[in-house]
Amino acid sequence: MAVKAEVQQIKQRFGIIGNNAALDRAIDVALQVAPTDLSVLISGESGTGKEVFPQIIHQNSTRKHGQYIAVNCGAIPEGTIDSELFGHEKGSFTGALADRKGYFEVADGGTIFMDEVGELPTPTQARLLRVLESGEFIRVGASKVSKTNVRLVAATNVNLMHAVANGMFREDLFYRLSTVPIQIPPLRERGAEDILLLFRKFAGDCAEKYHIPSALRLEEEAQKLLTACRWPGNVRELKNVTERISVIEEKRDISAKILRFYLPNMNIEKLPVPVRPDDQKIFNSEREILYQVLFDMKKDVAELKKLVHDIMAGNIQHVAAENTYSSVPALAPICPQQIQEAEDVEEEEISLADTEKEAIRKMLEKHKGKRKSAAAELKISERTLYRKIKDYGLELYAR
Ligand SMILES: Nc1ncnc2c1ncn2[C@@H]1O[C@H](COP(=O)(O)OP(=O)(O)OP(=O)(O)O)[C@@H](O)[C@H]1O
Ligand SMILES: [Mg+2]
Repeated sequence: MAVKAEVQQIKQRFGIIGNNAALDRAIDVALQVAPTDLSVLISGESGTGKEVFPQIIHQNSTRKHGQYIAVNCGAIPEGTIDSELFGHEKGSFTGALADRKGYFEVADGGTIFMDEVGELPTPTQARLLRVLESGEFIRVGASKVSKTNVRLVAATNVNLMHAVANGMFREDLFYRLSTVPIQIPPLRERGAEDILLLFRKFAGDCAEKYHIPSALRLEEEAQKLLTACRWPGNVRELKNVTERISVIEEKRDISAKILRFYLPNMNIEKLPVPVRPDDQKIFNSEREILYQVLFDMKKDVAELKKLVHDIMAGNIQHVAAENTYSSVPALAPICPQQIQEAEDVEEEEISLADTEKEAIRKMLEKHKGKRKSAAAELKISERTLYRKIKDYGLELYAR
């Protein structure tokens, strides 16, 4: 079946890579439903690419000039979620120093995207059902009913039907939300072509972002391996793996043997020891910091190696005192063991990710799964902790 021109345009506009039929169908449904005011429920495993869909719907609706607000229901503490969504009156709880509008009031005439909607506490589910059915809501601490006109797009990476069966999610709300369901396929079902297209895209982006002269290429066997992987973390995981290889490996042609090391469930992720990055640089994310650190370290190690070899080959007779590498034992005779030690710097690896994961797991256990107090003791925001729990698959330890 020929793919509709509108679907292709959307893919280009929103940077969606892939030609899988189920993905095309999902985009097509999003386009069809966009001009209506129907609620949409986007389902799909974590990392499949759900986040772009509410934007496609909003941008192609009559509400596109209205507000678009994205709310991550799982990241807002239970105690404040009603106030965040529906607002509060001054004095309604300690800290409510003034009246505050909630997202449903701010987004009047626009769209709200409620991500991880399955995480909503039960009382909030009742309030949400009411606002969806009648447009009515009450600010926390108020007695007066307010009205709003909001289109809702929700997303979930858990099976909401199961949540309904387990009594965790209201059945009436489930049916109200999923007037139009959109299912995003997992990466393993999207076929080899999409996996390779995505790899190429991420490798290209990464080369550009980190100023690497050429992008990664996969040898034939490596392509087979990449497409045979089950990708439990879907596109997000493929993106992370591609970035990691791109930054850590010096070679641009990646063999199956090298690739195997980075694939999920095939090997333990290991990252070299970090050194301090250049303070003047501005980084957007922790991952970027880590990559920059790896780059700097790789450069240092390469220079060190060259220096040691040059000394061995007799190319350098003397290392000036002010030389940055004066700690290299260049003035004394060098024995093979010393060279081996210098080269071992490159091999010395600790698993940063594993260490962090373990620290977070322990902290969650200590705080009996409470994200708020665990985040406070870890001195990170609850949102960051939430993301890390997801990245490391520690959901079982949190609540
Ligand atoms: N088809 C695609 N083309 C290009 N990039 C994609 C595609 N699908 C997903 N991505 C990228 O993969 C990453 C994960 O996607 P996204 O955040 O939408 O996942 P999600 O389905 O919302 O996962 P979760 O349920 O864990 O929130 C993002 O960086 C996104 O840009
Ligand atoms: Mg998401």
